[in-house]
Amino acid sequence: MAQIFPQWTNKAPFVVLAGVGFSLVVVVGLVWYYASPWNTDVGYRPIQPVPYSHKLHANIDSLSLDCRFCHTGVETSPVAGIPPTQTCMNCHNMIKADSDKLALVRESLKSGTPIAWVRVHKSPDYVYFDHSAHLTAGVGCASCHGRIDEMEVVAQAKPLSMGWCLECHRNPDDHLRPAGEITNMNWTPGANQAEFAKKQKQFLDIQAPITDCTGCHR
Ligand code: HEC
Ligand code: HEC
Ligand code: HEC
Ligand code: HEC
Ligand code: HEC
Repeated sequence: MAQIFPQWTNKAPFVVLAGVGFSLVVVVGLVWYYASPWNTDVGYRPIQPVPYSHKLHANIDSLSLDCRFCHTGVETSPVAGIPPTQTCMNCHNMIKADSDKLALVRESLKSGTPIAWVRVHKSPDYVYFDHSAHLTAGVGCASCHGRIDEMEVVAQAKPLSMGWCLECHRNPDDHLRPAGEITNMNWTPGANQAEFAKKQKQFLDIQAPITDCTGCHR
């Protein structure tokens, strides 16, 4: 019988199969990567309208301003809050008063239009989050935002995913600190952390694990 297809085509199905297999691995890999709660949004670092630096203003080796000086709502309300232009101008009407980098800040004060800071951390609307509840329990900013005091430009350090919230809710012990340390970026748990956490949980009546669906989805 005459050969219709040349010899090499015998291998063709295997080549095609291998190709499909490889593509599948790539697709599954990409889906896993982008859907994985451990990767979503981490590193998100939008460009801000004014080159405001936390490293310069909040680092202990620099101006050392406390987080609460600007994020005034953080201990008393669900939202931390972004400071109004006046907070900046209390200093910058004198310090670097002619700097180009502050032109937009001066303009904002004059016009009364707030600076259009770009939001970095954002939970979906169906999630209930409350800063004050966490700070009262002794969870520090650094546990959820990383070393903000080392950032020239704020970037998201943690996934803020459900899995991430739950991991701490199941065992918050390593993240509980004395009330005076909640904004201290250099604090680390000491040797007696387990003992401290136990007392803190009793004292504040913290009921871990806090994993009720309705706690975060109200
Ligand atoms: C002098 C005022 C000031 C101080 C002090 C300050 N911040 Fe901020 N912070 C800002 C401003 C303005 C923004 C908005 C612009 C930006 O994202 O950089 C901001 C943004 C942030 C954001 C991101 C908000 C978002 O959009 O998701 C976090 C988180 C944050 N600050 C945490 C901290 C922590 C933690 C400290 C203390 C170590 C601190 N800040 C100290 C002024 C301040
Ligand atoms: C407690 C005083 C204080 C407050 C409040 C403050 N700053 Fe500053 N800021 C400074 C000092 C001090 C410097 C460093 C000046 C220098 O380099 O000599 C500075 C530097 C800057 C610079 C760099 C200016 C340049 O030309 O290099 C920018 C931009 C800036 N601040 C923005 C802001 C913004 C925006 C806010 C409000 C969210 C703010 N600052 C609040 C004290 C302050
Ligand atoms: C338990 C984790 C956790 C801790 C602790 C925490 N944050 Fe947040 N923060 C978040 C989450 C989650 C969001 C996004 C919330 C949303 O979209 O409703 C956020 C948003 C923010 C924002 C932007 C929105 C807003 O609320 O104004 C700022 C500013 C901020 N945090 C500052 C701080 C500062 C300063 C501290 C410490 C004093 C702190 N956070 C402690 C988890 C935390
Ligand atoms: C680093 C640890 C940690 C992380 C991360 C964390 N939490 Fe919490 N959360 C706590 C602790 C501790 C409490 C206090 C529990 C108590 O007082 O019984 C708490 C309490 C709460 C409460 C109860 C507040 C109330 O009504 O009293 C809610 C809601 C909540 N967290 C939501 C979240 C959400 C949503 C996330 C993720 C975006 C999150 N938490 C991430 C440690 C954490
Ligand atoms: C500690 C807080 C917390 C608790 C408790 C919690 N969730 Fe969530 N959940 C979240 C957060 C935060 C997100 C948003 C995740 C994101 O932004 O990717 C979320 C997202 C979701 C979504 C959207 C799909 C997804 O996976 O992104 C569903 C569905 C959901 N939760 C169901 C539940 C159910 C059912 C329970 C109870 C077994 C529960 N959640 C308990 C914090 C919580």
